[in-house]
Amino acid sequence: PVAERVEDLLERMTLEEKVGQMSQYVGLFHLEKSADLDTPIDLMADDANAFYPGLSGKGLYDLIGKGKIGSFLHVLSAKEANQLQKAARQTRLRIPLLIGIDAIHGNALYEGATVYPTPLSMASAWDTGLVREIARQTAREMRATGTHWAFSPNIDVARDPRWGRVGETFGEDPYLVSALGVAMVEGLQGDDFGQPGNVLACIKHFVAGSEPVNGLNASPMDVSERTLREVYFPPYRKAIEAGAFTAMAAHNEINGDPCHGSRYLLTDILRKEFGFDGFVVSDWMDIERLKTVHRVVENQKEACFRAVDAGMDMHMHGPDFLEPVVELVQENRLAEERIDAAVRKILEAKFRLGLFENPFVDEAEVPHLIRTAGHQATALEAARKSIVLLKNEGVLPLNPDNVKNILVTGPNAGNHTILGDWTFEQPSGNITTVAEGFKAIAPPGVKLDYYDMGKQVTEVTGAHIEEAVRRSREADVVVAVVGSNSLRYESRFKTNGENVARDNLDLVGMQQQLIEALYHTGKPVVVVLVNGRPLGVEWIANHIPAVIEAWEPGSAGGQAIAEIIFGEVNPSGKLPITIPRNVGQVPSYYNHKNAHYVKKYKWSETGPLYPFGFGLSYTGFEYSDPVLSAEKIKAGEKVTVRVSVSNTGERTGEEVVQLYVRDLYSSVTRPLKELKGFKRIRLEPGERKEVVFELDEEAFSFYNMDMERIVEPGAFFIMTGSSSANEDLKTAELVVE
Ligand code: IFM
Repeated sequence: PVAERVEDLLERMTLEEKVGQMSQYVGLFHLEKSADLDTPIDLMADDANAFYPGLSGKGLYDLIGKGKIGSFLHVLSAKEANQLQKAARQTRLRIPLLIGIDAIHGNALYEGATVYPTPLSMASAWDTGLVREIARQTAREMRATGTHWAFSPNIDVARDPRWGRVGETFGEDPYLVSALGVAMVEGLQGDDFGQPGNVLACIKHFVAGSEPVNGLNASPMDVSERTLREVYFPPYRKAIEAGAFTAMAAHNEINGDPCHGSRYLLTDILRKEFGFDGFVVSDWMDIERLKTVHRVVENQKEACFRAVDAGMDMHMHGPDFLEPVVELVQENRLAEERIDAAVRKILEAKFRLGLFENPFVDEAEVPHLIRTAGHQATALEAARKSIVLLKNEGVLPLNPDNVKNILVTGPNAGNHTILGDWTFEQPSGNITTVAEGFKAIAPPGVKLDYYDMGKQVTEVTGAHIEEAVRRSREADVVVAVVGSNSLRYESRFKTNGENVARDNLDLVGMQQQLIEALYHTGKPVVVVLVNGRPLGVEWIANHIPAVIEAWEPGSAGGQAIAEIIFGEVNPSGKLPITIPRNVGQVPSYYNHKNAHYVKKYKWSETGPLYPFGFGLSYTGFEYSDPVLSAEKIKAGEKVTVRVSVSNTGERTGEEVVQLYVRDLYSSVTRPLKELKGFKRIRLEPGERKEVVFELDEEAFSFYNMDMERIVEPGAFFIMTGSSSANEDLKTAELVVE
């Protein structure tokens, strides 16, 4: 019946109403809300919509009333969502609005929502079930607040840590990104996004904006078809197979073809090759940028033509779309069938989401449906599983028998940077900072001294350092929490996040001096990194005895960090991205070709600081050699790989067992190793478990010189172990005949 309802409605729509469905606007108070959360908003005030100069709140309502708007983004309260829907109900055809939001780690732009660890943090848990559950809960919180479409998951494969958006991704590996991207799509959309509580997912950004030529967001991408097919396309193909209903185009160009106007990408690859059957939305002002930045067209009308003709179905955001597109159809340049195809999918989404039946939410219910106890428990579990112990020379966990006085300090100890990007300000009571986590978790008899040196990583001063050193005299251990700041509502202080690129990977400001000064006191120092991208902290890795990569672990992050430091939780996170020694090593991803490191750097070490897949535990794990079900298989056959893992220590621990494949000789060069399987297991002290992987053709195939996916006969290494580093892997050989 949905298809019939869509056709019935489409037949009754004017051309203008159809293009109205393809037009999206920003909610009334958009990002301004972050500036002042306490001022009540008068939705009908003339200047309510500060975002579109010249368009008042009333003007916006008029556009809705005429059916010229089909969708909104960044509607930040249930009340506003209801008011907008009420206006849409009064239009000729009563078509409800589809409301989208960047809910990439919880519905975190919404005040009072659950804030889960950021995607890079989540990825460090290597746990598809966890990501699926976070996405499911996010969907529930979104629907409760009147939104239906998450601009998530970001399945960009992050290959350049200078780029500010690394923290929004699942890291550097196509297999891991695909697995977690699929999990997130499944969690957001459920089996059918039309079932209650589910939302639309949006896979973004198609494609390859995550390795920009100079590290700057939206810079050009010059990339071979091979790299597109081997690295950047796979997560999209998989997410589409999992049913992702919407996709967002990337800001950048690919080899001279801006993604927003690329028929090759939007139609030939996405729809025809991958079988995408939903709708594509543009990114923020990126149709406009076909003229203003890429300069492939001379005016906005031609920009609209190029985008819609290429396969773009919805314009984010604002004016300058509807009129030119209507004209283009009237002039027979764009076929009305192209418009119908776009609108069909948008209407299908609205029908299936049940918005025609009821677009409204119960505002009074919102507080009961968001940040529930269950959701908070998941956020805490995710933080616990995602924190990565990078180094531990006998310091952690802290032993209350000999550690009686602890100094906790550093700019990220008492602030909210644990929340990460795409979060707006949350009530303080909803967040456990690191300092608060220490206070809550410290065992009786341990004295804490929290020295608050201000809340910004850029604002550490010499005076702060002196005072921290002075206070460290009383301490048995110093915990220094440093890193970056990705918070949108602190844009002046951001050192990370969207549009915050770096030309080095050092700690910003005087944080490095702070750590060095604390080290020189001779006290044991634990460095906790709260940051949204890999930092080249080589000095710290060489000198400091204990280093924790906490990433941005969400609102419960402070508790999880403290639990790990005191040993209440055994760390189990693994890096989803390589940590290079410095910016000059970039690109430093693990799945490089053999020639990548054949030559060495003249004055410094060549390998990464910490490899992909790495992470320590307080217990030890011993791996058997991998055992194959057959030493030889025929192309197309499957092979089973068994590996036994034992907990050799005295604590219960969780381990992420990883499997990599290497094609020894092939007609085109292949990466030295590629992740093809992973499993998180839990082991009691002394316990042994067998982990079983099944590898099919996909694990052994590659694109030949004619870009056909083939399996070539020959030998493969099957490597299993605790990280991607050779010394952490054991190998078996398989011959494919
Ligand atoms: O979804 C985002 C996108 O990732 C970057 N530009 C803005 C969009 C909407 O906020």
